[in-house]
Amino acid sequence: MNHDSLQATAKALIAEGKGILAADETVGTITKRFESLKINSTENSRCAYREMLFTSPGVSEFISGVIMYDETIRQTNARGVPLPEVCTRLGIIPGIKVDTGAKDLAGSPGEKITEGLDGLRDRLTAYYNMGARFAKWRAVIQISDRHPSQTCLAVNAHALGRYAALCQEQGLVPIVEPEVLMDGPHSIERCGEITGHVLHTVFNALYAQGVSLEGMLLKPNMVVSGKECTKQASVQKVAQATLQCLCRHVPAAVPGIVFLSGGQHDRLATAHLNAINILPSPKPWKISFSYGRALQDAALEAWHGDNNNIKAGQQALYQRAKCNGAASLGKYTEEMEGNASRKRMPAHRADWHDD
Ligand code: 13P
Repeated sequence: MNHDSLQATAKALIAEGKGILAADETVGTITKRFESLKINSTENSRCAYREMLFTSPGVSEFISGVIMYDETIRQTNARGVPLPEVCTRLGIIPGIKVDTGAKDLAGSPGEKITEGLDGLRDRLTAYYNMGARFAKWRAVIQISDRHPSQTCLAVNAHALGRYAALCQEQGLVPIVEPEVLMDGPHSIERCGEITGHVLHTVFNALYAQGVSLEGMLLKPNMVVSGKECTKQASVQKVAQATLQCLCRHVPAAVPGIVFLSGGQHDRLATAHLNAINILPSPKPWKISFSYGRALQDAALEAWHGDNNNIKAGQQALYQRAKCNGAASLGKYTEEMEGNASRKRMPAHRADWHDD
């Protein structure tokens, strides 16, 4: 394991005022998002959409890296340049989703285990050779009266540990993503309790498997009220509960925490990130974003499958990236949203996440 290069990549991914674009939706998930806007999902349309995102003029001011899906990392632009190289030339680090999805956990109805460990070492070597320098693996934890079970936490944490150790062996920075879902009527307090338990279990597994904390990034959920909870916590309360949970459970050696957006409305995800960063408590890690939907929703809508709208799509992504870049520094203001700041902001988006 080359500690220096892993640490250098991790640091570059959380450079001042920057975060990560998660554009690693599986074919199934991106197809559902396209279809909701009546966009035809083909290999070509998916490639055109991803290329539009990656080449948004100026976006590398705020985007340090992009997470791709297997199909995307193998695609090329019209001139035959592979998309990872397109990114690298723009100063954006290519990354890759390497899990193969969350499947039903045997013996534990309603819970999931993320698969993808078989043959992972060889796949990582291949992705490194295609230009990837970091990877992502998402574990999914559901909250209900009975869930999560200790089994679900243990097996998912073990898999995250195995994945992270293999990534570091192969020179890729692992993004460790244990996502506690927002689905359900649970309170913010219950989300905080479960998120803390999950993080504790995950870091135990990373420790047990010799993962170098300095050469990884954590991608957690924020501590929020369940989507169906009748009492939605304020931005300030989310910020406080999230930071308290992270301070209790994330070792200071981890260089960065990059949140997922998890189905939050895009501007709310930005406001939460900003509120966390302006809290006065000490923060031993950089705190930034690795958003999928909260960066892409406006861009996808503006593009709408029509290449005449590429400029509008790119401007929409640039706007979200800029606002989140500012939020990663605690410098975001509503005024940065321009006209959009006058629109009412719903808490959640209509949603699919099948990965
Ligand atoms: P969202 O920000 O849309 O939750 O996506 C982040 C991600 O990478 C999920 O795996």
